[in-house]
Amino acid sequence: MSKRLYVETVGCQMNVLDSELVTAGLLQAGFELVDSPSTADTILFNTCSVREHAEDKVYSALGRLKRVKDRHPQKIIGVIGCMAQKDGRRIFRRAPHVDLVVGPGQLGRIPELIRRVADGEGPQMEVSLSRDSAEPRKVRASFQQYDPGRDVSVRPGPHQAMVRIMFGCNNFCAYCIVPKVRGPEQSRPADEIVDEVRRLVDQGCLEVTLLGQTVNGYRDQGAEPPVRLADLLARLDRIEGLRRLKFVTNHPRHMTTELIEAVRDLPSVSPYLHIPAQSGSNPILKRMHRGYTVESYREMLSQIRDTIPGVAITSDFIVGFPGETEEDYRRTADLVRDARFKNSFIFKYSPRPGTKAAEQFEDDVSDEVKRRRNNDLLAIQNAISLEDNRPLVGREVEVLVEGPSKHSRKRDASGQSIQLAGRTVDDRIVVFDGPRDLVGRILPIRIEKADSFTLFGSTTEPPGALPE
Ligand code: 5AD
Ligand code: SF4
Repeated sequence: MSKRLYVETVGCQMNVLDSELVTAGLLQAGFELVDSPSTADTILFNTCSVREHAEDKVYSALGRLKRVKDRHPQKIIGVIGCMAQKDGRRIFRRAPHVDLVVGPGQLGRIPELIRRVADGEGPQMEVSLSRDSAEPRKVRASFQQYDPGRDVSVRPGPHQAMVRIMFGCNNFCAYCIVPKVRGPEQSRPADEIVDEVRRLVDQGCLEVTLLGQTVNGYRDQGAEPPVRLADLLARLDRIEGLRRLKFVTNHPRHMTTELIEAVRDLPSVSPYLHIPAQSGSNPILKRMHRGYTVESYREMLSQIRDTIPGVAITSDFIVGFPGETEEDYRRTADLVRDARFKNSFIFKYSPRPGTKAAEQFEDDVSDEVKRRRNNDLLAIQNAISLEDNRPLVGREVEVLVEGPSKHSRKRDASGQSIQLAGRTVDDRIVVFDGPRDLVGRILPIRIEKADSFTLFGSTTEPPGALPE
């Protein structure tokens, strides 16, 4: 069997990390990575179920592959991740040319399952037990932890890495499919995380982002006393050579004083916090089962801003949740205006079968109203993001250079991009010109221009100080 692999990833950072780990496992099994599905023998879609739109896109991509599969029946097509867990066998029914369906808790088995398909054993499916089909211990165990040896060559860059510290989620926000597809919440042992980060730093990693669906609810119960996120950050901060430490995503309910002070006090921890509010109206927050009021959310923001000077806070919002009135929406807009988030991700509510909201409430806000609220909130946020970025013009910021800018049109003589992109310590994107070998350096950049999403600048080091 020839082993050319193509992986397409949609969804959150957890999925990006999963794809990285699956790819690393398959490289170890002798696969090579190619950058287009047409030259691949094995095509994997790592999927997201959080909104219907993300699923539709995967089903239409699968539809387009039908003819390819007819012509090349030996090609292996796999659907992995959240949609695989959620839809299971239905995927084979909707797309009979799919060979492989693997949920997020079973990703470690992919090399073996691909081998079985290649050996002619027919379509393979591995998903974890659903929450209500067995006792909690068995369900938990069926969502295996999969964070094996990592491969630097598969990471987007050798200087940055994501590290999972938690699996799953127990929050059951009414709109959210994640607890169903990612299973029960499990924290990884702190010692294991510290070892993994130490290895990454030994390999030259400067920035680590800790991942969890509610990362600030992290609790290693096996340790005595239990290790919380603030304790874990303190341990990681002591690793020599680790320059930047971030964590996503936070739940407002778990934003303790101890954690806020750890962000202030630990030198490697970035002053950047993603804390989704979802709505600015109490009746909606209540129906969403978020477990806080807008007053307590605002109080938490004040405490963070009073404690951490220059902190950048970002948020997520859902507009058009069932029953959301103009008055509810106005309260959300008020929160966005007052909170001055660095940026916000804004989504139109999408009912997800199997969630409480989809079962109990009618999706009664029209798509037109959802779209209007979405655009309106985006405009408010974008104006604030611009106001937030503008004061940086004329100032010097420290940037970790990540790679060539995605939108870069400039090329050097060898056709290589010379427009580079990196991030400030508080997660702002900075674009500037420079040679490629600045990638992986932390540099001072003078900011010359700002829009809502990007800062533009130039290196301030004299040319002689830069590598050729
Ligand atoms: N519809 C729309 N947006 C959703 N999100 C989660 N579930 C839904 C849904 N059913 C949004 C939330 C979350 C982000 C990752 O996606 O804002 O924070
Ligand atoms: Fe990530 Fe949730 Fe989408 Fe799964 S459903 S990919 S956990 S955002």
